Amino acid sequence: MKVAVRLIGALAAIAATGFSFVAEAGDAKAGKQIAERWCQSCHAIGANQPTAVTEAPPFATIARKPDFDEAKVAAFLLTPHPKMPDIGLSRESAADLAAFIASQK
Ligand code: HEC
Repeated sequence: MKVAVRLIGALAAIAATGFSFVAEAGDAKAGKQIAERWCQSCHAIGANQPTAVTEAPPFATIARKPDFDEAKVAAFLLTPHPKMPDIGLSRESAADLAAFIASQK
């Protein structure tokens, strides 16, 4: 039992370090380049871009959500999910994208 508790503590510590790393690493300029290449076909990525034709929410809409959290978006982007292609983003690229999305508020 004690071992399990310690293990959970260790995992939590690793997760916390990982997320703070993600939060620090975000570079919105690099994120914009990735978004232009990989996200623009579905999402409106910038304020002056015409709305995309899919049901994908514009990045500005995502950034304005009351519960928007840059670190959470970066973590979200690391896991493949329905409708979005899994482009195998690195942790750094995910953080850059999250920073770019945050800058579209
Ligand atoms: C093939 C079309 C497609 C591509 C390409 C795509 N997305 Fe999406 N994305 C979607 C759709 C559709 C949703 C809405 C998901 C849903 O409602 O199930 C979504 C949802 C999201 C969300 C969650 C929004 C929320 O409400 O929390 C984020 C963040 C996101 N996309 C970021 C990205 C990023 C960053 C890229 C580029 C790496 C990208 N997407 C590429 C279609 C796409």
